[in-house]
Amino acid sequence: MKNEEIVISAKDLKLSFYTDKGRVKALRGVSFDLYKGEVLCIVGESGSGKSVTAKMIMGILPGNARIDGGSIYYQNEDLTKVSEEEFHNIRGKKVGLIFQDPLSSLNPIMRIGKQITEALIINGDKVKRLYKDVLSPALIKYKNEIQLRNLEIERLRGDFLDKRFEIRNNNDIKFGEATKQIQALRKQLRLDIKAIHDKTRPTIQALKKVVDAKRIEARKKAKEFKASLVSAYQEKIAPLKEKLAAVSGEEKQAIQAQLNAAKTKFENSLRLTPAEAKRRAIKVMEEVGIPHASRRFRQYPFEFSGGMRQRIVIAIALTQDPDVLILDEPTTALDVTIQAQILDLVKKLQKERKLSAIFITHDLGVVANMADRIAVMYAGKIVEYGKAEEIFYNPKHPYTWALLSSIPDIDSKERLESIPGTPPNMIYPPKGDAFAERSKYAMAIDFKEEPPYFQLSETHFAATWLLDPRSPKADMPRIVSERIKNSLKKAGKTNG
Ligand SMILES: Nc1ncnc2c1ncn2[C@@H]1O[C@H](COP(=O)(O)OP(=O)(O)O)[C@@H](O)[C@H]1O
Ligand SMILES: [Mg+2]
Repeated sequence: MKNEEIVISAKDLKLSFYTDKGRVKALRGVSFDLYKGEVLCIVGESGSGKSVTAKMIMGILPGNARIDGGSIYYQNEDLTKVSEEEFHNIRGKKVGLIFQDPLSSLNPIMRIGKQITEALIINGDKVKRLYKDVLSPALIKYKNEIQLRNLEIERLRGDFLDKRFEIRNNNDIKFGEATKQIQALRKQLRLDIKAIHDKTRPTIQALKKVVDAKRIEARKKAKEFKASLVSAYQEKIAPLKEKLAAVSGEEKQAIQAQLNAAKTKFENSLRLTPAEAKRRAIKVMEEVGIPHASRRFRQYPFEFSGGMRQRIVIAIALTQDPDVLILDEPTTALDVTIQAQILDLVKKLQKERKLSAIFITHDLGVVANMADRIAVMYAGKIVEYGKAEEIFYNPKHPYTWALLSSIPDIDSKERLESIPGTPPNMIYPPKGDAFAERSKYAMAIDFKEEPPYFQLSETHFAATWLLDPRSPKADMPRIVSERIKNSLKKAGKTNG
């Protein structure tokens, strides 16, 4: 049995979005485990809640999202409950997120080499990092408050401009009268802005005081930390220096080399030197398969193809030495060959770096060769969950069957069967099995009662009433069973 350590454990995630039309129940009890060194694929049609799940793990939910329940354990901490500062640490460092569109994560006017070295330097400067860690929570609160105030003022200005526009364009108001009205409005605006400043000043000033105090504390801590690094270095080189004075010739050279190495290491422990940052950047570019890395180091994002840009984004994520990568449809915008290359890269990183990954896609076909485990998602729930072989060779949920039937078969060129109907409106999620209304296997109970998870093996679960012993026996569609038979034959296994 291989390593079964769980890296991220999500339990019963529930989440809603508040919108003008109502409350969108985007996640309705999502549970899964990410095992160390494995690739977990989350598969489902658009709108099933895949990206929301990723965003919830990363703590980057939009303002209208409300967590209704659940927990996400990572390194003994519930990510839904950790403070913002801790989250910040985890987000950039331990868990990396890669989106579908690499352009959105790259700065278009900065050479890519600089973007990679910057990421390395932020991570590499330990003293600065400590300083920031102490200071940022207070600084964030302070800046947020200022931003909120400014937004409120912006809104007032916007209202004023709207009203002025209306008055000026109202032919019923005489010119002189209009000017008077606008003057009155402008006066009111000034008063309102002053009122906002007066109202928010005490809070902002108090927060500013906290920032100032934290800045002193951070400086002190950073200084102490630096001093401890310096003294550790001095302790290390003192005996070498003594020896250096006592020996000669080749021995002397060897000790001098040791001293030089210690010095470089010390310098890099304080702050990644530009030369070292560049060396590491080129190394990570090579690792993600960017050819001529040292030349391309100086190019801009637009000089790279979509696939290469996605590699750069992955390289930037790797500078933080993450132990989990979340890839949200990273290949969807790419053509098939390039897609396959990115998948190979993810697979390679997983092996070489012992990374764990959550790979999100709407296309079950894409993940056949890379998934260790698969979670099939529909309407904010995981309807089937298991090892990749279990999902591909022994699927049980009609939705999984539908997804499998819609994978085009390369050999037989069998026609792609698209899934009939559309996903449900998540403001009013259907009762029972949400897929029932689109499934020809649906039974009366599917429209009434939510199916529990039926366990098929130690690792395989499916939420469908078809697995209830009282249900009539239903077989998967022929297209799916044929395909399974064929792929088993190809894999040299016998069926049955
Ligand atoms: N910011 C938002 N406001 C309102 N609804 C949202 C928001 N983001 C996502 N949703 C809704 O949540 C559901 C899940 O979305 P998402 O996770 O993006 O799906 P996908 O599986 O395609 O990644 C969808 O019904 C979507 O419309
Ligand atoms: Mg998505």
